[in-house]
Amino acid sequence: MTSADIRQKFLDFFASKGHHIVPSAPIVVKNDPTLLFTNAGMNQFKDYFLGNRQPPYRRVADTQKCLRVSGKHNDLEEVGVDTYHHTMFEMLGNWSFGDYFKREAIEWSWELLTEVYGIPKDRLYATVFEGDAAEGLPASSIALDVWRRILPAGQIVFGNKKDNFWEMGDTGPCGPCSEIHVDCRPDAERAQTPGHLLVNKDHPQVIEIWNNVFIQYNRLKDGRLEPLASTHVDTGMGLERLVRVLQGKSSNYDTDLFTGTIAATEAMTGKTYSGGDGRQDVAFRVISDHIRAIAFTIADGQLPSNNGAGYVIRRILRRAVRYYYSWLDCREPLLCRLMPQLAGQFRDVFPELQAQLDFVSRVVREEEESFLRTLEKGLRKMDDILQRSEPGSAIDGPAAFELYDTYGFPIDLTRLIASEHGHSVDEQGFEREMKGQKDRSRAATATDTEDWVVVSDEATAGQVFVGYEQLQAPARLLRHRRVRAKGRDFHQLILDRTPFYAESGGQTGDQGWIRFGEVRVEVTDTRKENGLTIHVVPELPDGLVTEAEAFVDTERRREVAAHHTATHLLHAALRQVLGTHVAQKGSMVQPGGLRFDFSHFAHPRDA
Ligand code: SER
Repeated sequence: MTSADIRQKFLDFFASKGHHIVPSAPIVVKNDPTLLFTNAGMNQFKDYFLGNRQPPYRRVADTQKCLRVSGKHNDLEEVGVDTYHHTMFEMLGNWSFGDYFKREAIEWSWELLTEVYGIPKDRLYATVFEGDAAEGLPASSIALDVWRRILPAGQIVFGNKKDNFWEMGDTGPCGPCSEIHVDCRPDAERAQTPGHLLVNKDHPQVIEIWNNVFIQYNRLKDGRLEPLASTHVDTGMGLERLVRVLQGKSSNYDTDLFTGTIAATEAMTGKTYSGGDGRQDVAFRVISDHIRAIAFTIADGQLPSNNGAGYVIRRILRRAVRYYYSWLDCREPLLCRLMPQLAGQFRDVFPELQAQLDFVSRVVREEEESFLRTLEKGLRKMDDILQRSEPGSAIDGPAAFELYDTYGFPIDLTRLIASEHGHSVDEQGFEREMKGQKDRSRAATATDTEDWVVVSDEATAGQVFVGYEQLQAPARLLRHRRVRAKGRDFHQLILDRTPFYAESGGQTGDQGWIRFGEVRVEVTDTRKENGLTIHVVPELPDGLVTEAEAFVDTERRREVAAHHTATHLLHAALRQVLGTHVAQKGSMVQPGGLRFDFSHFAHPRDA
């Protein structure tokens, strides 16, 4: 069976059990503050489990692109060193939203593995949650009951909270789980050491392939477990491992999910992959793994960048570059040239990569070129640092920070190279340097704000904006305060209603003046703070009265409005000319002109 056949059989099997087949959610998570990336098939269904939304179907199945490189589930350090962890992997899953529960989930997983895929029954082991007194959680007696009817006692293993209670992150839906492990060792070895002794012991040939989670609780911020109104099933089977077992390989990288990229890398570098533990072989594995994470994440809309999810992708990419540079003697961008092979391989299941092949390849090429420009100097710097370090000592914080700041070495890359030479990194020292730099730039822009002087208190203070229709309006002064920033004093005023447009979405705040009886106060800027419109005035003359009249500088506003319209036109034109991936990254709309920042994979001169 090819990997494509194996994936399809899973989906067909669950379709035959009344499941609706749904597409993978994007690998990049946009609307969940607890996650950067999809780290499990169940992420996209979290709201169904919590009862916040009604599912359109009670049973679904899919293959989900997952990434485990940050947060609670992080396998990055293992990837390439061993043969069965990955950054990006496919998780085959079947779900019940308040429908079937433990019995059906377990029986179907057994039927699929043994009858459809034909895995010998005596090579399979099931784990069952033993309970946890501190959390007040009972042992999984139902799961145990079901397994006892299927398997001899010697193939059932009890597991503690670490192995048999699954949680997505620090908070969220969770519950006890029952995993299925497979023993792929030769018969002679199996006769010597029974497989149940090797379950969950990091043995490369006795591996977990499927996790059946029984979602029953919600982990709250304060650490408590809250029982859910209904119970659900969340299962996840790693496709790469399943394929390895069914194709009779001892390494995921020997399956048809990876051999195509490895062969292409061999052809491009003139090196040979031999499946061993040497650095060259690790490099082949790292590249064939990392390229999937990089390609699919960019195809799903996350460009490499300097922070957040974008930085995670940049780190993975730089790690791959360093591996081919140092161990495959490759000095040119390589990953971007492997993209066509990868896109072709996944054309039927994840067509988004093929559809954006040109775009993704160019983004990756730009990234590789830019890191290759500093990598050599950075590696030389690293050599200097290593040479002057005592054997076994830690690379100090300032050195690690210089590698980061000047040569673009993510800290995990510095850690990796240091460990290859028997050194560690003073990570706290590195963090201190980082923080020092942030503090310095913050101090440069520090402001000192006095308390508001309340002239008159009203519930709608500063929230009524009349400036779409009027550029001049009567108003009442409600509060004012003094602010000192960058060594200069100014004042801020809040009115009960205002025609002044506060800076937002890149459009500059209005200017104008406010008349208090005979006194005229110039407004140099208008800003928003916690929903309040704040008028910035350089001077606050004595003898202010409450009643006022506010005047926006109409000529200035007219020019700003024209540039705002022009910004939208420009954005539309860019999308037409360069493509719909062009996303607004920032804009500044002012009376004298506009600036529009956008993401695109090449410098304008190359576009
Ligand atoms: N949520 C579980 C896991 O990720 C099963 O899908 O392992």
